[in-house]
Amino acid sequence: MTLTVLFAASPLNLKEVDDSYADEYRCAQAAGLFVGLIDLDPLLLGASPQQAVKRLSRPDSCEPGPALYRGWMLRPGDYTRLYEALLTRNLRLINSPQHYMHTHYLPESYPKIEGVTPESVWFPVRDRTAVEEAGSRAVEAVRRFGDRPIIVKDYVKSRKHEWTEACYIPDASDQGRVRQTVRRLLELQGAEFSEGLVFRAFEELEALSLHPQSGMPLSREIRVFVLDGEPVFVSTYWEAGEDAAFNERLGEFEEIIRSVESRFFTIDFAKTKKGPWIVLELGDGQVAGLPDDTPPALFYGKLKQQWDSTDQPIDGS
Ligand SMILES: Nc1ncnc2c1ncn2[C@@H]1O[C@H](COP(=O)(O)OP(=O)(O)O)[C@@H](O)[C@H]1O
Ligand SMILES: [Mg+2]
Repeated sequence: MTLTVLFAASPLNLKEVDDSYADEYRCAQAAGLFVGLIDLDPLLLGASPQQAVKRLSRPDSCEPGPALYRGWMLRPGDYTRLYEALLTRNLRLINSPQHYMHTHYLPESYPKIEGVTPESVWFPVRDRTAVEEAGSRAVEAVRRFGDRPIIVKDYVKSRKHEWTEACYIPDASDQGRVRQTVRRLLELQGAEFSEGLVFRAFEELEALSLHPQSGMPLSREIRVFVLDGEPVFVSTYWEAGEDAAFNERLGEFEEIIRSVESRFFTIDFAKTKKGPWIVLELGDGQVAGLPDDTPPALFYGKLKQQWDSTDQPIDGS
């Protein structure tokens, strides 16, 4: 069955796609996928998930039609409400709410990537305003890193653009610095803060340059979108030859990729100075941005092609 890609409607005109996704919408349609619009506001404001999906026409099949959301990150509760509301329109999102959580929160999928991703510890933070308490727990949690450098983020996102004040900690045994960085992260995340704190060993990555404003190292990183266990799109911003080298390495991660409990997700890789490629993080493919230089036409073309090659109707029609 043809995949329906759902985008956020513009809050100013619910019949049009939100500006931020206009290119993707056009390219998905041009690739031969169905497209639809959802009104995110009622969903996010906790009002009516039904309201969010009411403009979608129901695919008229006995089975729910397959659907994929492309848009901003959703909290797992909102994703679940969207998933359920869409079922009443006879559409089923590609990832169940459990799938979504699995790659959205780092601690959920960490066991799948442990060993090929920086060593990580975490703890939940129930009250993000209890800054002193979070700082004390952090000091305890990072003892295992000794005096090594680490980074801190929440279960979903970092403040990588505030690298030196809210992300990078040069020495994990520097208690003052740990507390101060945690405080700043909590402050900057504010209401967007997700679930808890994650501390990760900092790995020297092959550097391209330093971000001129934030001082964040810009390194060699690649985002791979995976559909049903197969890489469907590999982001690339390098010379052709280097891409081929990466594609060979990718094969070494096949078993890990297949073990991830999600039909559509991203896996971000970075090249370490020591040589090996490591996994930085996983994410739900529906809410992961296309890397800057990705032509959306290419992305949706590949997605359509791979969807068609694996989703053969049982009766062959
Ligand atoms: N453990 C690490 N070692 C070295 N650099 C890292 C590490 N974790 C993250 N980074 C750098 O910080 C950036 C943001 O980290 P990431 O975990 O991807 O957070 P976000 O969810 O905000 O994208 C990465 O793209 C990478 O450049
Ligand atoms: Mg990232």
